[in-house]
Amino acid sequence: MDKLVVSCQGELSGNIEISGAKNAALPILMGCLLAETPTKLSNVPHLMDVTTSIQLLASMGVDVLFDEHLNIELDASHLTSKEAPYELVNTMRASILVLGPLLGRFGEAKVSLPGGCAIGSRPVDIHIHGMQKMGADIQVEQGYIIAKSNGRLKGADISMTPVTVTGTENLLMAAVLAEGTTYLRNAAREPEVTDLAEFLNKMGAKISGLGTSTLVIEGVERLSGVEYSVIPDRIEAGTYLAAAAITKSKLTVTKVNPKHLSIVLDKFTEAGADITCTANTITLDMRNRSLKPVNIVTDPYPLFPTDMQAQFLVMNALADGESTIQETIFENRFMHVSELARMGADISIEGNTATIRGVKKLHGAPVMATDLRASASLILAGLVAEGETIVNRVYHIDRGYELIEEKFHKIGAHIYRLSD
Ligand code: EPU
Repeated sequence: MDKLVVSCQGELSGNIEISGAKNAALPILMGCLLAETPTKLSNVPHLMDVTTSIQLLASMGVDVLFDEHLNIELDASHLTSKEAPYELVNTMRASILVLGPLLGRFGEAKVSLPGGCAIGSRPVDIHIHGMQKMGADIQVEQGYIIAKSNGRLKGADISMTPVTVTGTENLLMAAVLAEGTTYLRNAAREPEVTDLAEFLNKMGAKISGLGTSTLVIEGVERLSGVEYSVIPDRIEAGTYLAAAAITKSKLTVTKVNPKHLSIVLDKFTEAGADITCTANTITLDMRNRSLKPVNIVTDPYPLFPTDMQAQFLVMNALADGESTIQETIFENRFMHVSELARMGADISIEGNTATIRGVKKLHGAPVMATDLRASASLILAGLVAEGETIVNRVYHIDRGYELIEEKFHKIGAHIYRLSD
């Protein structure tokens, strides 16, 4: 298994171009199942999870073509299977996102039920109940969700608690071809959900309330393929900005939408950074400044994202004072804490709250991460730790950060990959 070796480098500097958003690309790829004609997607990041999604779609009979700019054309006009097998769902939970489009367009789907994962139990009951409310017959047999609908799904009034990102996306994709109007209440407002809704509207769907917590979907009879460019990855951008904050550097991220990072940028400012934005760049300057501790509570968008929690936890671990971070989205998303403790961080956890007492320095160690953002946080810690940090299980990183070593090299970081 590949490892990343990271060593302390001092200041970073320069620009990093942000890739397309993983969590927007995945539902949009699955959304291609809804169109009767080919769709062409650009700004799709080259990541393990995207490869897995394409594999899944291809296994169902979707024709997939890449052009010379690595844009992806997907043609779902002749599907041969409506099944997402265990082997693929097991490697990527987002495979559940084929359930809504398959049921909505073909009236049938068989999708392996995702199990729990390192960060929490992550049930999909809201996805299932919503589709049942739209008239689907859903059984769980031998670990598979078997969904059928007698004719088109029917519009329904669905309220979702807690707020769920992929739940909202799955129900949105089920509802666009339903008969009548669907209301999705307490919907997730994440920019990735809005990007999916904009993509579906471009295909001919009638969704209103984009970006709000009530989405209203007037079902249409068919959708057609379109050309669409995925939004920038706000979490990738936030991760590189955190690298600059931790190393007391000045860094600009380009091809990003600063509006998607509003609360995160406020927290960087509170941590002592100077932030300047243009329409599509963010510059963070932490030179000659000291890191201040910031208290954080993770919550659904537009509040502080759980996907930036681990990165801020490392910043706090090196800040001048004490802070708390409360994780309200996933019940087990502090797995990086024990690894950071091995690097010298002073953190205690009680329930869903971490109390972090800043230390002057961290030291390198072999560490292991259990999820994507935790792995990112360990790399960040490695950038300032004395000596070498070896991050094991790099496959987590490859699921969500495109060309991570190349991007870090470009800004002067010492990081390289060891392959077994
Ligand atoms: N939940 C339920 N029932 C459901 C669905 C969700 O109880 O049917 C609960 C979950 O257990 C969790 C909470 O609702 O406690 C929120 O989970 P959500 O469904 O919003 O998470 P998700 O859709 O599975 C997406 C991202 C995650 C990101 C979360 C929260 C994708 C592919 N994944 O997951 O991204 O952390 O939203 O913003 O969009 C990552 O990129 O590293 C990552 C984990």
